[in-house]
Amino acid sequence: MAYETIRSEMRGRVGLITFNRPKAMNALSHLMMKEVCKAAEDFDADGRIGAIVLTGSDKAFAAGADVKEMADYAYSEAFLDDVWSGWERLTRVRKPLIAAVGGYALGGGCEVALMCDILIAAENAKFGQPEITLGILPGMGGTQRLARSIGKAKTMDLVLTGRMMDAKEAENCGIVSRIVETANLLEEALRIAEKVSDFSLPAVLAAKEAVSEAFETPLAAGLRHERRLFHATFATDDQKEGMAAFVQKRSPQFKNH
Ligand code: CAA
Repeated sequence: MAYETIRSEMRGRVGLITFNRPKAMNALSHLMMKEVCKAAEDFDADGRIGAIVLTGSDKAFAAGADVKEMADYAYSEAFLDDVWSGWERLTRVRKPLIAAVGGYALGGGCEVALMCDILIAAENAKFGQPEITLGILPGMGGTQRLARSIGKAKTMDLVLTGRMMDAKEAENCGIVSRIVETANLLEEALRIAEKVSDFSLPAVLAAKEAVSEAFETPLAAGLRHERRLFHATFATDDQKEGMAAFVQKRSPQFKNH
């Protein structure tokens, strides 16, 4: 399928989505939101794909929601259209989403990265929620996802001052899982996604579901759900294969059922 604002391609068992509005620092327009969600949903439904990588350019993952598109909104328009709620489609994708962030991940760009499951940052990555400088506040989940993952102190600091944090600070406070050399960002993200794709897909989906649940439910309910998902893996051939391979000291051949 041809897209205007992104590129979507398969790299082996990995679905790669690249933001492609270089002249606008990959600012997230409404069309881009629709295209990213459609591409991710298509990869989610494609049995050949095991994980999805979302990336931008070495200058910008995405510099936020498109300010030029939003500048003249009336309140009623924003409210009635429930502006930016369309990104919630991305959070319903069941396969792992890996954000490969180089350069600026600001505002909505930071928020889309936070919707992903693993966040790999290039050394030059910069994260921030500068909405306050525009007379608004984050509107794609920043206040909520940041507060849950990095706590109140850092979240208030970022949201109320609009300052940026570099890759090291973002790793130290827990939103970035690995920092890689800027030149190797995509290669590393694809390598990680390929590794995830090699595992049993039912186990991978259940693991993502269980970890995601930790952000939504009280501990007792989350623990019970994790256990049920864990029990369910014993209904799969892949569990038999994975454990037999371990005992027989060979590599497992997962069949995704
Ligand atoms: N929306 C629309 N256009 C944007 C943009 C954005 N978020 N960010 C950058 N651009 C455009 C610039 O307007 C500029 O276009 P022109 O050449 O036509 O003027 C082009 O991209 C290049 O940008 P700069 O010349 O500003 O590049 P720079 O290297 O000097 O600065 C930057 C880079 C620090 C990222 C700066 O562009 C910037 O501060 N961008 C805006 C960041 C921002 O405020 N993001 C939050 C948006 S609101 C939001 O996201 C709300 C939400 O939560 C849903």
